[in-house]
This record gives sequence, C-alpha cells and structure tokens, in this order.
Amino acid sequence: MTGSRILAFGHYQPSRVLTNDDLAQIVDTNDEWIRDRVGIATRRIADSETVADMAGFAAEKALANAGLTPADIDLVVVATCSSVDRSPNVACRVAAKLGINAPGAYDLNTACSGFSYALGTVDHAIRAGAARNALVIGAEKLSDFTDWTDRSTCIIFGDGAGAAVVTAAAEDEAPGVGPVIWGSVPEKSDAVRIEGWRPYIAQEGQQVFRWATTALAPLALQACERAGVAPEDIAAFVPHQANARIIDGIAKRLGMPQAVVAKDIVESGNTSAASVPLALSKLIERREVPSGAPVLLFGFGGGLTYAGQVVRCP
Ligand code: UT7
Repeated sequence: MTGSRILAFGHYQPSRVLTNDDLAQIVDTNDEWIRDRVGIATRRIADSETVADMAGFAAEKALANAGLTPADIDLVVVATCSSVDRSPNVACRVAAKLGINAPGAYDLNTACSGFSYALGTVDHAIRAGAARNALVIGAEKLSDFTDWTDRSTCIIFGDGAGAAVVTAAAEDEAPGVGPVIWGSVPEKSDAVRIEGWRPYIAQEGQQVFRWATTALAPLALQACERAGVAPEDIAAFVPHQANARIIDGIAKRLGMPQAVVAKDIVESGNTSAASVPLALSKLIERREVPSGAPVLLFGFGGGLTYAGQVVRCP
C-alpha cells in the first residue's frame, strides 16, 4: 500500500447551547473575561447523548459524505478521554450502532491530541495492509467530568464529535495523509488531570499555555517538512481548540499568512479529541478549504502529548 487519504468528514454537536452569560449565573465569571482570556462565546452540552452516540452520529455523516456504507468499513478507531464505560469500548459501540461487520475496533486516549494520534495509527494500519477503509473519530462528553463550581475549568469545555473516513490510496496516487509527528512530555504529566474514582478536569493552565505557545510551532513545522509541503503552501491550519490566544500564538510563528486558521473554539469551546475533526468538518461544510488543498492538523494536551500531520482536504 502506498498510503492513505481522507474521503470525507462529518460532525455532530448536541443542540443545547451554553453561553458565557449562562455560566455567569452559576460561577463568578463574565462574558468579557472568557472572551478575552480564552476566546469562547458558547459551547454545546450533551443531554442524554453518550460519547458513543455522538461518535456514531458523526461517523454516519462522514460515511454519507464519503459515499460509502458500513459494509465498506473494516477498522473503527475512536479517540476519547471521556468515555465512562471501561467495556465495551466506544469503537465497538459505534460499530454496533452503524451495523459494521467485524471491524478492527479500538479506542485511544491521548486526550486533546487524540485525533492526530488515531489518524496516524490508521494510516500505519492501511500502509501495513491491515485495513482498507477506516473510520477515525474524536468524540468527547467532557460535561460528565466538569466541576461546575470551578470557574477556572467549567467555562472551557464542551461536548461533540468529529469523524473522518480514511481509505487506501491507489498505488499511483500520492498519499493524502502525511507522516505523523507525535510525542509527549511525561515529566509534565500532572499539568492536565482527570483522575480518581469521581474524576473532574483539573489543569495547570498557565504551565500548559507557556508550553503550547513556545514548544509546539517548531513541531508543527516538522510535520510540514516530513510531508514535503512548504509552510506557505498550507491552505488551512487546524490546531486543537484550547484557547484562541494559543491558536493565534502558534499560527503567528508558523509563517502561513494565507492559511485559514480554524477558530471553532468561539462556538464550541474546548472539545479535546473532538476539536480538530469538528473544526475541519465545519470549515469544509462552509467551503472555506478547497478539495485537495494541504491542511496542517495539530493536537496537544493532557499527558502532555502532541501529534500532527499534513492531510489533503477531501
Ligand atoms: O486542552 C487541554 C490543554 N489545556 C490548555 O491548553 C489550557 C491552556 N491554558 C489556558 O488556556 C489558560 O491558562 C486558561 C484559560 C486556563 C486560564 O487563563 P489565564 O489567563 O492563564 O488565567 P489565570 O489562571 O492566570 O487566572 C488569572 C485570574 C485569576 O485571578 P487573580 O488571582 O489574578 O485575582 C483567576 O482567579 O483570572 C481569574 N479567573 C477568572 N476570572 C473570571 C480564572 N478563571 C476565571 C473566570 N472568570 N472564569
């Protein structure tokens, strides 16, 4: 196999919108602080939907957009850090919901970098001949892990899912998924935590902020170099949606003045592993990135972990 390419994206968000003014009713915060310091105006909060429900809805849309059926899929990979159940995993639940027969099915948890990690493993599986058509999904219900009395975290997170259909590239076709750059900073593993038996999200915000704005731009540029794409040719930059100031800080250091920079954080907040596919799916739906154009994905967060790659927009 020569590599893989993405056929289509799809996404799902719960209908309930939580505004900054809504949050100001329950903790000591205000719209101006949240917009200035984080860049969020609204986030979506799931009601009865589970992580698997949202993953399944996003996957159904991605399949429909790809023109494939469940019978075509032989691998399902779900990136998530907020699935409550230990077994079955979310990938098997998605396969059951969609009626996918006997796929390889696994979940992967690298928190907010999860989608790019998952896409990397799927690209490798396709290159190795272990899969032909795969669903790669990022899905989170972070509201299950939110401490609604802690203003430093409850204003940040949201729920949702994004999915991609990835297929084997033809032998004479250039790969549409570039080499993944991935890694971690285990000595900073306490910087983002969802720990214990009744876990809540906690983080050392300033520590993560400093790391993200200083260490990540050179790593994102490595992903371009490995893909053989000059930074000035990148059509869109889709980083993890953690903080609008982090996104701007990294984007400034990349030297991609023409690139569309995803800012779905404004509408959706931080949806961890879902944020990258959700943001790109929406850019594609709004026709803001042309088909075939190179797009730089870059996830980062809990672990600390990071991963990114250049993909061709479906
Ligand atoms: O996705 C996982 C990876 N995580 C990240 O990438 C997070 C990176 N970090 C960040 O995005 C930012 O550090 C935060 C958004 C988490 C926090 O913003 P900050 O500008 O670093 O604020 P801070 O924690 O330094 O707090 C500044 C002040 C404090 O008050 P004092 O001590 O200066 O009086 C906080 O108590 O802002 C206060 N504050 C708030 N005020 C109003 C904290 N949260 C709020 C709030 N509303 N919601």
